[in-house]
Amino acid sequence: MPEFYDVIFERRDVRGEFTGKDVPEEVLLRILGAAHAAPSVGLSQPWDFIVVRDREIREAFAGHVQRERAVFAATLDAERAATFATIKVDGVRESTLSVVVTYDPARGAPAVLGRHSIADAGLYSVCLAIQNLWLAATAEDLGVGWVSFYREEFVSDLLGIPEGVRPVAWLCLGPVTHRERVPDLERKGWRGRVPLADLLHRDGWRGR
Ligand SMILES: Cc1cc2nc3c(=O)[nH]c(=O)nc-3n(C[C@H](O)[C@H](O)[C@H](O)COP(=O)(O)O)c2cc1C
Repeated sequence: MPEFYDVIFERRDVRGEFTGKDVPEEVLLRILGAAHAAPSVGLSQPWDFIVVRDREIREAFAGHVQRERAVFAATLDAERAATFATIKVDGVRESTLSVVVTYDPARGAPAVLGRHSIADAGLYSVCLAIQNLWLAATAEDLGVGWVSFYREEFVSDLLGIPEGVRPVAWLCLGPVTHRERVPDLERKGWRGRVPLADLLHRDGWRGR
């Protein structure tokens, strides 16, 4: 197992490097167990995990992603559109499987301890589960790619997600040839990582 900080810095959003090779069930369950160990507001554990191996379902989703990609591309100026055209935004077809992570605001409600003043705290909790999953998969030497080029209603219909429960992430998962050292968006010239010093404030939001 790699060291904790190695996992943090080696984690990558993977789109183009999936091999499609098998993910043993016990490895998948270890990764989902790590996700389920995340903190959650009021211990609400508002997440569910839908494992999608079915080819037809993934194909339907991949088509939807391509349509949403076109919707976004149409909003860009010529220069950005040319850069965007070189960027792959999902590995739905190439990855071994997908995990869709959902948020159920009704879980543990109405008295969710700590959510009375910040409704979003439930969503924050789901994102922590997703990050645990992402890091655990990295520690298992697998790749994960988060896909958000979708409409929630489409995913809910496709997977029969109950009313009131929201899909938060469609994650592609599986073995990869390698993980790049630099994020795809940086390598393709879309956007780079901002220096930490630019984002660090002390004793209040100062001097900006
Ligand atoms: C909420 C969220 C949604 C994202 N949606 C997509 C997506 O639809 N397609 C994609 O290729 N990457 C997506 N990403 C990955 C980001 O582009 C990626 O995290 C970022 O460029 C930094 O790269 P790294 O994760 O490899 O460090 C998403 C990431 C997050 C956190």
